[in-house]
Amino acid sequence: MAEDARREALKKIKDEVLALAESPLYEYRIQNHYFPVIGEGSHYAKLMFVGEAPGRTEAQTGRPFVGAAGRVLEELLETVSMDRKEVYIANILKDRPPENRDPLPEEIAVYGPFLDRQIDIIQPSVIATLGRYSLGYIMRKFELELYIQPISSMHGKSFAAKAPYGDISVACLYHPAVAVYNNGMKETLKKDFQIIKELIK
Ligand code: URA
Repeated sequence: MAEDARREALKKIKDEVLALAESPLYEYRIQNHYFPVIGEGSHYAKLMFVGEAPGRTEAQTGRPFVGAAGRVLEELLETVSMDRKEVYIANILKDRPPENRDPLPEEIAVYGPFLDRQIDIIQPSVIATLGRYSLGYIMRKFELELYIQPISSMHGKSFAAKAPYGDISVACLYHPAVAVYNNGMKETLKKDFQIIKELIK
């Protein structure tokens, strides 16, 4: 898909989410003067990150991973000599859940199709899941549900899958927020992140 077509298709997603009054999180967004957070990065990214949902800073700015977890993600990207501009960063939920609570199944059902469309537009060859919700969503989407286990035994592993546009790898990572107050986890994340280097070769 040409650059213009990609930009248009992504813009359409943004417009639809902006007007998504049927979402269970729409009222909360409006009341708090929040923005939906669609995603950002290269429209030709080989590597796409899928987080869970925007936090407060993200909802205030409309940009993914710009708070404390975002700083960890940028640090991790540096360890594989990458910059956030060359990857694409999205979330399953496009609106912030109250008090950052876990996403509800009905919220995932509402926002999941927008993530599906982002994947089809950008066509990444590696999808890195951040945290257990995006792990569950992406593994099910690519018919890998048989391999789902607790994230404590899946982190740092990758799985081959078939997307409509070609072969892909799903890389399973802990959510960077786990390292915000726990430096030990940061070491684990850095180690796990090295699989990305292998996969995007
Ligand atoms: N956590 C997420 O899962 N996504 C963000 O965009 C920010 C924090």
